[in-house]
Amino acid sequence: MAFTIEFQPLGLRLQFETAINALDAARQAGIHMMAVCGGEGTCGKCVIQIVESQSHYPPSPTEAEHLSPEQLQSGFRLACMTTIESDAKIYLPPASILEDQIMQTEGDGYQQDLRPAISQKMIALEKAHLDDLVSDFSRIKNAIGDPKLEVSLDVLREIPAILRQNGWKANLILRGNHLIHATGKFVSAPLGLAVDVGSTKIACYLIDLESGKTLTAKGTPNPQIAFGEDIMARLAFAMQSQENANTLHSLTMDAINQTAEEICRRANRSVEDIADFCLVGNTAMHHFFLNLPIASLAVSPFVPAVTEPLYPAARELHLSAMPGAGVYAPPVKAGFIGSDHLAFLYAADFGKDQRTRLGIDIGTNTEIALQAKGKIVSVSTASGPAFEGAHIAFGMRAAPGAIEHVRIGDDGKTEIDVIGGQQAVGICGSGILDAVAQLRARGLLNQRGRLVRDRECVYQDAHGKPIFTLSGGTAPVTLSQQDIDQVLLAKGAIRAGIDILMDYLRITPDAIDEVVIAGAFGSYMLPQHAIGIGMIPNIPMDNIKVVGNAAGVGARMMIVSTQARREAEMLSEAIEYLELTVYPEFSIFYANGIRA
Ligand code: FES
Repeated sequence: MAFTIEFQPLGLRLQFETAINALDAARQAGIHMMAVCGGEGTCGKCVIQIVESQSHYPPSPTEAEHLSPEQLQSGFRLACMTTIESDAKIYLPPASILEDQIMQTEGDGYQQDLRPAISQKMIALEKAHLDDLVSDFSRIKNAIGDPKLEVSLDVLREIPAILRQNGWKANLILRGNHLIHATGKFVSAPLGLAVDVGSTKIACYLIDLESGKTLTAKGTPNPQIAFGEDIMARLAFAMQSQENANTLHSLTMDAINQTAEEICRRANRSVEDIADFCLVGNTAMHHFFLNLPIASLAVSPFVPAVTEPLYPAARELHLSAMPGAGVYAPPVKAGFIGSDHLAFLYAADFGKDQRTRLGIDIGTNTEIALQAKGKIVSVSTASGPAFEGAHIAFGMRAAPGAIEHVRIGDDGKTEIDVIGGQQAVGICGSGILDAVAQLRARGLLNQRGRLVRDRECVYQDAHGKPIFTLSGGTAPVTLSQQDIDQVLLAKGAIRAGIDILMDYLRITPDAIDEVVIAGAFGSYMLPQHAIGIGMIPNIPMDNIKVVGNAAGVGARMMIVSTQARREAEMLSEAIEYLELTVYPEFSIFYANGIRA
């Protein structure tokens, strides 16, 4: 018998015919839930509260591991472990959904070359008559003086009617010698959409291709996250069937289309005016948005299907745009070094001078490049999602209620800044870094990364394990030894990547002229704390530059300039990829990196 699930506080109601897993039901309702482990029951992030139901949902042993007896008593369950079979009202706690995350779309100010691939031309043709039987398309080629002009069948089908309805006048949109659209009226300025497809967020920038100006921008959560936070979890899901792989592709394209609609509306324009796209992302995202086979990315030696730049038609990828719009997908370098890394390095002027520079984009996989001695060498290190709040008991994304900064006094007393100024419900990456760095600085964390038990501000949990309280009240936010271990593992992976690059190019930290830090976490973290916990080498603060979403900046530079595309492709060829896991003594570098 049909039953209804009501999701609150969103007020969404959906009918189902048969019993359904609550995580799948949320996905069907279009809700992007935290599902770090992809529904395996191991991350404990997909918490729901069943507030009304005719059925009984006895907690499973897995749920008892992740939720306190009080929570279980109050109806809290894990969505992926719960099958709903009758009418139910389900409350989604803020930490379980992704909609309110802070989305970073801005990047640092940048210089741009304006040579777009797209141009438009108004033409007025002689009307066809019995003494002049030249075809419509030949008439256009003659008018613009390009005998090599090419056109797709889709665009060609529109031309006869447009010419005849508009007194043989037409406005042509051209990409090089391709006619991509014809209209009866002048299009204000063709638009470009630059997109950085990140594993957790998709940043879209709407660009006026005549002035090069960014008209508007928006970040949206990557809906793939409902199938696992970790790229490997998503690859595993996609490998189960072609249908699953198609789902991840379509979700990404739907999110881009919806965001494009919204930002076009804001700019008083239409998606039909979008003539060109530049899509960048890590190699897995690149393969997902192009709907390329991903099996080889999921298993060693992690080889991409393609590394060259690609120019598919927007229609082929189901992107909403003008009929003949195209996509530029810049080259990727390796299985874990994608076009977002290239876009970051290009935007940050790597390869343009002889300085010794380190470029770091911190994420679940952290990509690091070292420019020194006339070379640029890049690595990717599996730093894990600790700085995105995953695998941390009270970890969450940067959303209202997250502790974003922590100050710990000599007496162990804390002061916190909470996003939205409300009661703290969790802690995000920048807060986690602050907390661990200051625990270390105040001597509350020893050199082996253990919480010092004999300090009175370090408490014991119900199992006798040490914990540090960050915010008090009835629902305190705490940091456990296990949380700290996760942070040290993450920073250890990043530091090992940096140290191996320095070892490979035979340089010491004092030779580094500049460290460029990109990405959302990089923008909110305090670099002195990254130095404090040994994540990055100890170099003068003035030599550390935080550049925000540099991959988005690179994509914007490439959408307005064919010259920028060529330069980025040359930079990609100049980058040398170094595989960390086969580097001699990798495990020693990693063990050294983990030390607090
Ligand atoms: S525990 Fe449910 S998605 Fe991870």
